[in-house]
Amino acid sequence: MKSNTVVTIFGMVSVCAAVLLLALGGSEDTAIPQTPADHGKRLFRVQGCSSCHAIGGGVSRGPDLAGLITRLEGRLSDAEYQRHLNMLEESRSDVYQLFTDDYAEILAAPAGEARIRIWLRAHFKNPRFDHFMGRMPTFAHLTPQQVDQLTEYLFTLR
Ligand code: HEC
Repeated sequence: MKSNTVVTIFGMVSVCAAVLLLALGGSEDTAIPQTPADHGKRLFRVQGCSSCHAIGGGVSRGPDLAGLITRLEGRLSDAEYQRHLNMLEESRSDVYQLFTDDYAEILAAPAGEARIRIWLRAHFKNPRFDHFMGRMPTFAHLTPQQVDQLTEYLFTLR
């Protein structure tokens, strides 16, 4: 075998090995999202949510979202949420009036997963609807699909 043939074969083998290493070595972060929850996890980073929300420890300007769904189940039960709405109405009835459609839609949904989904959608559109003095920015620019994907991801945080 001529020596330049050997060099060519060696070169090709090296390229194949490098491609294989890259394919196998792809970290979870750079992997192509597959499920809606995977897409949501990626959005959580690229939309800047992770700059304010830690999940299970670390610096967090907003609430740590570990255990979010369990917390929301409690907070959005019929009795708890009605109590919360009464408090909002007493604090600022003028602001309360702006969001009565949202409250009605939330209370009309059965408590649990369906209600949490509606609450999250309203929260992305304008977090102030449920937290008049809150500091979370609005995410009204998200498409319905992105809202669904983020919601699927948040539902993994039980
Ligand atoms: C600038 C900081 C900031 C950014 C960016 C941000 N949040 Fe928030 N978030 C907050 C704060 C602060 C609260 C508490 C309520 C408030 O002040 O509005 C909150 C509340 C929440 C809650 C309710 C948590 C609870 O336990 O009540 C969820 C869910 C949430 N944010 C999800 C998100 C998602 C998803 C994104 C990205 C699309 C995001 N946040 C972006 C600051 C932020």
